[in-house]
Amino acid sequence: MIFFNYPKSIYKLYEKEILKKIKKVLNKGIYSRSEELIKFEKNFSNYINVKYSVGVGNATDSIFLALKSLNVGINDEVITVSHTATGTAIGIANTGALPVFIDVKESDYNIDINLISKAITKKTKAIVVVHLYGQSCDMDHLLKIAKKYKLYVIEDCSQSAGGQYKNKKLGSIGDIGCFSFFPTKNLSAIGDGGILSTNNKKIYEKVKALREYGWDKNRNAKFIGINSRLDELQAGILNIKLKYLDNDNKERNNIANLYLNKIKNDKINLPKKNNFSFHAYHLFVVRCKQRSKLISYLNSNKILAGIHYKLPVHKQKVFIKPKFSLPITEKISKEVTSLPIYPGLKKRDINKIINLINKF
Ligand SMILES: Cc1ncc(COP(=O)(O)O)c(C=O)c1O
Repeated sequence: MIFFNYPKSIYKLYEKEILKKIKKVLNKGIYSRSEELIKFEKNFSNYINVKYSVGVGNATDSIFLALKSLNVGINDEVITVSHTATGTAIGIANTGALPVFIDVKESDYNIDINLISKAITKKTKAIVVVHLYGQSCDMDHLLKIAKKYKLYVIEDCSQSAGGQYKNKKLGSIGDIGCFSFFPTKNLSAIGDGGILSTNNKKIYEKVKALREYGWDKNRNAKFIGINSRLDELQAGILNIKLKYLDNDNKERNNIANLYLNKIKNDKINLPKKNNFSFHAYHLFVVRCKQRSKLISYLNSNKILAGIHYKLPVHKQKVFIKPKFSLPITEKISKEVTSLPIYPGLKKRDINKIINLINKF
C-alpha cells in the first residue's frame, strides 16, 4: 500500500542518528527540560529567525497558550478559518473565546482576507491564520488589516514548518507562530510535540510560565497555567530532523512538481501555487467532483488517499450554528483529496500514481 503520509519513511532516512540520540538521552537520565529542549528551542529560533521559542506538548496547546499570553479569553472573539484541522479552533475555544469562522479562497484554500473586516466586532482580539497544506497566507495584506483594527496575529504553522512568505520563514511574521510536531508533519516527533515562536520577550516569558502550571522561577504559580512540555526525547529527535527539514521540503516540492507537470485529467483539479510562498507541501491536495469514485479506484490499486478536511470545523457538533454557512469551505470539503507526498516516496510509486490518475 502507498500511504498519503508515511512517518516511518522519514524515520528510516535518519534512523542511525535518531537511535544514537535516543540512547544518549536515555543514558543521561534527565528526561524533561534539559539540554535537548534548550538546544532545540535555540535551534528552532535560529532556523525561523525569531528571538524566542517555547517547546510545548502539541499545536492545540500552543494556540491556546499563545492566546492566553495575550489575555484573550471569555467574552472575546478570535477570527479564523473552518477549513482547517479541528485543533486550530479547539485551541481558541479552550481559552473561553469564541472562534469566528470565515471562508477561504478557492485559489489557494487559505483565509479570504477580504472577508475579515466584516467579521470584526468590538470583541475581536486576534486573528489565527492557518498556512494550510504548507502554503503561506497573504501576510502583508493581513498585517495591514490587523494593524488597522489593532488585532493580534497568530500564525498556525502546523502544516508549514520550513515554508516561507516571500523571504521570511512562516511563524516569524505575526505576533506568535504555533507549530505541531505530530508524526505526520513536515517536522515531526515520534509522538506529540509543538512549539511557539515570538520576538516579544513578554510573551515569551508568560508562555514559559503558562506551559508549566503558571510557575515563576521559584516554582511559585503566578498564573493558572497548564502542563504542556516538550520532552527531552522528542526534542532530541527534533534537533536531528530540523537539520534536514529544508532538504525534506525540497523533496516534497520535487514530488509536487512531478504531479503538477504530469497529471493531465479534466476530472482532476490541481492545486495552485500563489506567487509569494515557498510551499512546504505538507499535503498535495487535488479536487475531484467524483471523490469517492477516485478514492475507491486508488484504493483498489493499493494507493491510500486522504481527505483534508471532510467535515468543516463550523459543521462539527460543538461549533455548529443553525443557518451559518461558508460556501467555499463547504464546496471544497466535498472534493478535496490528498495524494501521497513525503520524503522517501519512491519514483516508481510517484509514476504509478500519476499514470493511474491520468487513466481515471
Ligand atoms: C493546521 C493545524 N492546526 C492545528 C493542529 C493541531 O495540532 P496538534 O495535533 O499538534 O495539536 C493541526 C494538526 O493536525 C493542524 O494541521
